[in-house]
Amino acid sequence: MDRILMAPSILSADFTRLADAIGLAERAGADLIHVDVMDGHFVPNLTIGPPVIKALKGVSALPLDVHLMIDNPEATVEWYLDAGADMVTVHAEAAPHLHRLVQVIRAAGAKPGVSINPATPVDVLRDILPDLDSVLVMSVNPGFGGQSFIEPSVGRVARLAALIRETGSAAVIEVDGGITVETAPLVVAAGARMLVAGNAVFGYPDPIAALARIRTAAEDALPGGSQPTTGVVDSL
Ligand code: DX5
Ligand code: ZN
Repeated sequence: MDRILMAPSILSADFTRLADAIGLAERAGADLIHVDVMDGHFVPNLTIGPPVIKALKGVSALPLDVHLMIDNPEATVEWYLDAGADMVTVHAEAAPHLHRLVQVIRAAGAKPGVSINPATPVDVLRDILPDLDSVLVMSVNPGFGGQSFIEPSVGRVARLAALIRETGSAAVIEVDGGITVETAPLVVAAGARMLVAGNAVFGYPDPIAALARIRTAAEDALPGGSQPTTGVVDSL
């Protein structure tokens, strides 16, 4: 049986107790910790930056999946790499020199990913797919946790999965935004293998049970005989 990589987003955790949130995620069997970086320009919100990521790295046994929702990521990507990011995802909409940026991330020893917003056609990734470890499909407009899943995201994941097969890429599809026990099976059936969940984990009194419920719902939706998830996490 294939496995789903679960990446709980600490954006919905208690910011005064982030180490506890990471501990909960570890005990819940999470595969990565999803860290949402927002700059108040690319998205209408400000969250955390490199010093906090460095602190998280010091207390997390799990790899950090750093999602950069920032303008001009080329200017500051080194900050996040130096802070200890294991996976670095940049937005296609924010990076005109995406190929160069992906090479910089890989050269630093991190796993490069690219994210696309709900209105960005998946086809813009065609020529960069072979260079990526992951593609993060936004299933809400980025900026805030706790928003509702945008339904056409399911078709976008399916089209991206077809494009990945066509190009021979080993990229894993990650979906972020509005993931719940109801929506997780939809995107997994369409080809997603990595799920971010914030509110649906940390918004519940028992985040460990909440994460387990999402994982079970997601893994039940895996098509029989699908290929094993590539080593995005194993090789970190
Ligand atoms: C949104 C962030 C997400 C967010 C997801 O801009 O990129 O990672 O934390 O939160 P939920 O799961 O609550 O939609
Ligand atoms: Zn995110």
